[in-house]
Amino acid sequence: MDLSVLVLPGDGIGTEVTREAVGVLRHVAAKWRHSLKLAEGLLGGIAIHRTGSPFPAETARLAAEADATLMGAVGLPEFDNAPPDQRPEKGLLGIRQALGVYANLRPVRTYASLVDSSPLKNHLVEGTDMIIVRELTGGIYYGTPRGIAENGAETQAVNTMTYTRAEIDRVARMAFRLAEARRRQVTSVDKSNVLENSQLWRRVVNEVARDFPDVKVDHMLVDNCAMQLILNPRRFDVVLTENMFGDILSDEGAVLAGSIGMLPSASIGARKPSGAWVRLYEPVHGSAPDIAGQNKANPLGAIGSVAAMLAYSFGLQEEAKAVEKAIETVLESGRVTADLRPAGIPLGPPATTEQVGQAVCAAIG
Ligand code: IPM
Ligand code: MG
Repeated sequence: MDLSVLVLPGDGIGTEVTREAVGVLRHVAAKWRHSLKLAEGLLGGIAIHRTGSPFPAETARLAAEADATLMGAVGLPEFDNAPPDQRPEKGLLGIRQALGVYANLRPVRTYASLVDSSPLKNHLVEGTDMIIVRELTGGIYYGTPRGIAENGAETQAVNTMTYTRAEIDRVARMAFRLAEARRRQVTSVDKSNVLENSQLWRRVVNEVARDFPDVKVDHMLVDNCAMQLILNPRRFDVVLTENMFGDILSDEGAVLAGSIGMLPSASIGARKPSGAWVRLYEPVHGSAPDIAGQNKANPLGAIGSVAAMLAYSFGLQEEAKAVEKAIETVLESGRVTADLRPAGIPLGPPATTEQVGQAVCAAIG
């Protein structure tokens, strides 16, 4: 099969974890005799430095052409005080919007060999297996009006949370379809005791639920959900929520998985005229400037994103399973980066980013 993939390593540890993820992709392509066509593009801080824009037109063109796009992470500390539209993150928001990838799937599971890596009690986290479906191209991230009206002591900042019925409907359908193939439970998370936005969200989710009679739906307020995720994570199967709530809750989910470095994600949009689905893959973690360039970052979230790409974009289930299995083998072997080492247990030096990538390839065989 021909696999045409655009790689956007981005900033900080994004470049390091992406290198290993691409190494795994090459390894899989060679082993199963697929022809791999890789292109590389600029996104985020590096794109601002080279072109002046966090999401250059050339990157948009390459992404529109590719079958799938693999991203690292974006963000550089030197832009910390820049306005939102001149920051590296604007590139990420730009590509999500340009590709129209409205559903971001963030699976959260605990691996048996990692329960000690979570600061939570083992009996609480064991067996956690959920998928957070985060709406990705609407809500307060994109709503207008937005901005800061400078006026001395009267200076005012505005952001707008907005959703249309259609935006809620399509992401809700995605969540229900996923639930049909899992444990058939959708928990929709909102703040409908305060926000009209959430009231519409809840109404539309209930309407969509009628088309999926085999799936149970419940609704949870986002503050309560933050608590239940830690108290009783096993109760969740598919968690459906809007953009910002999903951003926040998925970092909390990372604690259940042992490290944010473990979480992969797949973002799914509409179909192209050719019939192919538009998809973007990225680990959930950020660019982590504090450990960038040190060969310390955990590449397993990025490598898990490659497994998702093989499954969702190319339908290569056997290859995807082999990558997932190899991740488990490496975790069990203890050859992991420092973020996965339980505190206080002397185990010798942790593995480097590169060693973990190589260990995954070796485990695939
Ligand atoms: C994420 C990140 C991004 C987001 C940032 C880097 C803009 O936190 O993908 O979770 O908020 O969507
Ligand atoms: Mg986030």
